[in-house]
Amino acid sequence: MRLAETIVVMTFGLLLLCLLAWLGGCGSSTYQPTEDPLFEKASFPVGVGVDSRGRFSDGSRFGALAFHHFGRITPGNALKMDALRPAEDIYDFDEAERFIALCEREGKPVWGHTLVWHLQTPTWLLNFDGTAEDWRVLLSDHIASTAGHFQGRVMAWDVVNEAFEDDGRLRDSLWRSHLGDDYLADAFRWARQADPDAALFYNDYGIPFHPAKLQAVLSMIDDFQTRQPPVPIDGVGLQMHITDTEPSIEAIRHVLSELSARDLQVHFSELDVSMNLNGLHATWTPELAERQGQRFFDIVRVYRELPSHLQAGITVWGIGDGDSWIRYFFNRLDWPLLFDEDYEPKPAFFGFVEGLAD
Ligand code: XIL
Repeated sequence: MRLAETIVVMTFGLLLLCLLAWLGGCGSSTYQPTEDPLFEKASFPVGVGVDSRGRFSDGSRFGALAFHHFGRITPGNALKMDALRPAEDIYDFDEAERFIALCEREGKPVWGHTLVWHLQTPTWLLNFDGTAEDWRVLLSDHIASTAGHFQGRVMAWDVVNEAFEDDGRLRDSLWRSHLGDDYLADAFRWARQADPDAALFYNDYGIPFHPAKLQAVLSMIDDFQTRQPPVPIDGVGLQMHITDTEPSIEAIRHVLSELSARDLQVHFSELDVSMNLNGLHATWTPELAERQGQRFFDIVRVYRELPSHLQAGITVWGIGDGDSWIRYFFNRLDWPLLFDEDYEPKPAFFGFVEGLAD
């Protein structure tokens, strides 16, 4: 081969190699997260809440990180009533089924979220015109059918989500207004009947922020536990939509001690640390990143103070900052999660890891 030909062949070969490397980096099946799996470092479950639609295809960083770093998956929307009930007489489990089957193939237990909530209800429900008994049948059927359908495949259910106002009053949701206050207890009973092996949780936000809300939740639990027979409840999910300063670790500790005294499991559900609540920051800075890292460390540490048999786990609410619900729900720039927009681990991730260390 003449020199000119050799040079052409070598250049072509080099270009081909570059193209292959680029394709690999772009992410198809070769993407490998750089850090060791986060969940394997913890003595309690570490999970993530994710939307089931899209981005789980082979090689997506989102999907790869979800299954690499987290030991348990909460479908962020797929099990809510609006997702499952397109019409009054139709249950559509297809999307939830597909997603849960994927989690099963990945060997990840699934946390069910949520059976009874005042939001993300289907529109037909708002126009549902029935007697109190019709409403009762509707809710009991929803719980029996949903928890029954996934019996043995969903390890725990957030049976009721956000039933209390911050001032401790029972929220005037459509469930309460049609079924009366005892819909709460009924929901837990129906869930136990539908899936006797699933752990049953009450899930709410702001509990460590609002003493009156904490008192209301504790009174509900005391009531459940002292009835004859007791109303089944296994734990409380504290939605950790928090900032780097609020609530204080002391306030969280107080909630943990009240719940442990009642022998309830505690789930730090929906953890994200907002760093831009007032929208004052236009850019992400190393200083904010460090403060957030410290906050994740402190949250993991205070969680570890719980007796281990009451540790239901910590669930982070999303993977990369770019997908956080805070951005689209509140229409606010924020950086609340463990990974940045490019799915690179942040100081938040390393703070979490350090929090798990001895
Ligand atoms: C959020 C989801 O993450 C979003 O995708 C959806 O648009 C709105 O709901 N409390 C809850 C969660 O219990 O179900 C909410 O999840 C966040 C607040």
